[in-house]
Amino acid sequence: MARKIKLKTALVGIAIFGAAFVVLGSVSVVGWEFSNSNYFCTNACHQVHPEEPIAQQLSAHAKINCVDCHIGRLAFFPALIKKSSHIKHVWSILTGWERPTYAPSLSHVGNTCEGCHVEDTHKFNILASKKRYAADEKNTQTRLTLVSRNVGRIFGGEKNRRGMNWHAGGNVKFVATGPQKQDIEFVEATFPDGEVVTYKSVKASMSDADIAAADKVTMSCMDCHNRAGHPFRDPETVVDAAFASGELNPKLPYVKEYILTLLDTPVTSQEDAMEKVDKAYENYAQAYPDAATDYPAETEQARAFIEQRKKFLADLMVSSEFPEAEHVTWKSFPDNLGHKDFPGCFRCHGGDLQNTAGEPIPVNCSTCHSLPLTTKRDKIPDYYLALLDLKKPKNHRSPDWMAKHSDHLGEEGCESCHGDVKFGVDDKTFCSNSGCHAVDWQYLDLSAVNYSE
Ligand code: HEC
Ligand code: HEC
Ligand code: HEC
Ligand code: HEC
Ligand code: HEC
Ligand code: HEC
Repeated sequence: MARKIKLKTALVGIAIFGAAFVVLGSVSVVGWEFSNSNYFCTNACHQVHPEEPIAQQLSAHAKINCVDCHIGRLAFFPALIKKSSHIKHVWSILTGWERPTYAPSLSHVGNTCEGCHVEDTHKFNILASKKRYAADEKNTQTRLTLVSRNVGRIFGGEKNRRGMNWHAGGNVKFVATGPQKQDIEFVEATFPDGEVVTYKSVKASMSDADIAAADKVTMSCMDCHNRAGHPFRDPETVVDAAFASGELNPKLPYVKEYILTLLDTPVTSQEDAMEKVDKAYENYAQAYPDAATDYPAETEQARAFIEQRKKFLADLMVSSEFPEAEHVTWKSFPDNLGHKDFPGCFRCHGGDLQNTAGEPIPVNCSTCHSLPLTTKRDKIPDYYLALLDLKKPKNHRSPDWMAKHSDHLGEEGCESCHGDVKFGVDDKTFCSNSGCHAVDWQYLDLSAVNYSE
């Protein structure tokens, strides 16, 4: 005969089970939520990468959580597995880790970026006009205008254009060396008509067999916007933005030069960094004793600007908790969107990556943006706007046009579209362009481009 459980015992049992369920469940939920918090990601393992949360606060994504990009919107079990894979970090805490850190295992953009941004984000070309300041006595202001061709060159009947969306649509695969993927040795591209073309670097260090065996990365948002979560802006951009927004006043003589020199000074500890900031003040006050009396408000403003960044700068320059750590600066974190301070777009578009016929991935400047325009005043000249809308002559479309254009300077007809053809850097004509000729584009190798049709 089956034994009957007394009603009271059963109720007590259910109550205990229920309470345990609520307590354990709550602990798990709280634990799970805690492990999703920025606090956990930033502090759980000591401050392994103090610069990341600081830089995140300066990004357009300051208000979202680390896990939104690093783990993404996964169902519970896949998220648990992904998180468990981060257990290896615990091992690094015991055995030591290298700085700067890098993040090789972000979730697929379908679960992260594309949870908030649509896949075909780039719908317009964007004209951006930014104020620039020279590191001279007057902090002389100029203006740099660039039309970013996010959908390609939309005028002049150029139909077969491929813009940013094409790169992000699974059409480009590549093989890179190093965890920050700065050296790209091989690219495989699928064009809209289905044609597949491969490009290999003329300076490849890997053999064909190694390339064939290597993992191929499918290009995504993060391969261009790798700094979306953590912009480490170069000092020049930070200072120019501060002038432009009115946080710093260009009336203070040589103030840009002073701040740039300060930001470039190596430091050994946080205290050392703070001391160097204070010292820079003293030096400035000694060198320009009139500045503080002539421009008291502006001087106070400059002080506030630096004070505000003092802690941040110090954190960025070095983490004092890890004196043995390598010197970490903004230069430790390459930005792939551009090609000035880091290889960026020129990792592929720099002339070295060529198909079997020797044709490079396009290097001509007007592929990705208009020619840069530097002006002293704010007005954009008509000739510049007119060129944006013109069809390019056939010779300009040759892959080696940029490499060979100076051979064509004497030819007839250039003036009809470009006006006076005179090489230089004074920005008076289309050809005397300081944005092209006064910069050493160190990641562009035009000598590697020898293609002829
Ligand atoms: C908007 C998305 C986004 C957010 C939010 C975000 N990250 Fe990142 N993070 C990235 C991307 C993209 C990379 C670069 C991946 C690559 O190089 O392939 C990265 C890289 C890193 C790296 C490697 C170093 C570097 O800068 O390349 C660390 C460490 C890191 N993130 C930690 C964090 C922490 C901690 C937080 C929260 C405080 C956070 N991330 C928030 C997108 C994000
Ligand atoms: C939780 C939502 C969310 C996620 C996830 C997210 N973003 Fe954003 N992102 C935004 C919002 C909102 C803005 C607009 C912010 C503003 O205009 O101030 C933005 C702005 C941007 C911008 C323009 C501003 C800038 O930084 O230049 C870029 C580029 C961008 N996101 C790329 C990315 C990439 C790449 C990822 C994945 C690594 C990503 N985002 C993940 C919400 C998100
Ligand atoms: C081939 C490189 C490349 C890839 C891949 C790429 N972008 Fe962009 N994106 C750019 C460039 C270049 C700009 C223009 C930046 C500027 O003008 O400062 C831009 C601008 C943006 C902007 C701001 C302006 C706008 O048009 O709204 C957002 C947001 C953005 N991208 C999100 C994304 C997302 C999300 C993905 C992935 C689906 C992605 N990008 C993939 C290069 C890329
Ligand atoms: C991993 C390699 C790779 C990177 C990195 C890369 N691209 Fe490309 N890009 C290609 C390939 C391959 C093509 C197609 C070549 C062709 O059109 O003949 C291409 C084509 C283009 C085109 C279209 C050219 C045309 O004639 O229609 C534009 C615009 C462009 N890229 C912009 C950029 C920008 C801007 C960046 C940096 C933010 C960038 N790309 C980074 C591989 C890359
Ligand atoms: C593969 C695409 C691509 C090619 C080719 C290219 N650029 Fe750029 N360039 C970019 C992108 C992307 C940026 C960043 C735009 C931004 O920040 O809004 C940029 C930025 C610039 C800037 C502004 C830099 C600054 O100080 O902020 C200049 C000047 C410039 N390019 C000149 C050139 C010249 C000259 C050439 C030809 C020798 C060239 N570019 C070829 C993609 C390209
Ligand atoms: C029919 C009008 C026309 C003629 C003639 C012409 N160009 Fe151009 N050129 C253009 C246009 C349009 C652009 C693209 C501007 C842009 O996209 O911002 C351009 C761009 C250029 C560029 C930058 C190329 C690039 O891809 O970034 C150079 C260099 C150049 N032209 C030199 C010359 C020389 C040298 C001659 C004479 C042999 C010449 N051009 C004749 C219309 C013309």
